[in-house]
Amino acid sequence: MPSENKNNLRNLIRQNRRQLDFHQQDLHAWSIAHLIIRLPAFRNAKRIACYLAEDGEIDPVYIIEKALQFKKQVYLPILPPTGKSLFFAAYNHRTKLKANQFGILEPDTHPDHWLRARDLSLILLPLVAFDENCNRLGMGGGYYDRSLAFTAHRKQWHNPRLIGLAHELQKVDSLSNETWDIPLNMIATEEKIYFNQQSKK
Ligand SMILES: Nc1ncnc2c1ncn2[C@@H]1O[C@H](COP(=O)(O)OP(=O)(O)OP(=O)(O)O)[C@@H](O)[C@H]1O
Ligand SMILES: [Mg+2]
Repeated sequence: MPSENKNNLRNLIRQNRRQLDFHQQDLHAWSIAHLIIRLPAFRNAKRIACYLAEDGEIDPVYIIEKALQFKKQVYLPILPPTGKSLFFAAYNHRTKLKANQFGILEPDTHPDHWLRARDLSLILLPLVAFDENCNRLGMGGGYYDRSLAFTAHRKQWHNPRLIGLAHELQKVDSLSNETWDIPLNMIATEEKIYFNQQSKK
């Protein structure tokens, strides 16, 4: 898909997503949490990366609560000061946050304690659009794609498992994947979970 079309699609869906009111947002966040916490991919995960919701994204707050209750380690993405792959820093109720260069809150943690995607069991990703085959269109920075590029060369799919969280209104008929786009294992919406049939087990 030409990049101009991708950007138009991003703008359209982001606009629709922002129209959801607080109650719809909250209902979707609840429904998705309910689906996620029953999955073996969640139950078996020890280290789970989430994100702090922006711009009408599904809020993973209920999943984070459950994960902390189950004594799992929760992580939030950190935009690298240099380089272009994400790091992940531990997060709980006591973690101090600070705004990064884009105004997004991140744990205020020393880089010595940051992990890479390969160190995690499960990553819950935000997204702008998705299709039934679990292809993902993000915000356009390529950060998740670069951080997960290593998964493309493996014969078998090990950790981290990748689950996108989305409103059903973010679904499109089909996304033509670029060579660098990393498909997800599953996508959870307020209605159902889409499983990637091509996923390496
Ligand atoms: N593995 C990679 N190596 C180098 N460049 C990459 C890689 N993955 C993505 N990029 C670059 O990032 C740019 C944005 O990619 P893309 O449009 O797929 O972003 P996105 O998936 O929407 O964003 P994100 O992954 O941050 O949610 C592309 O122009 C591409 O050149
Ligand atoms: Mg991409």
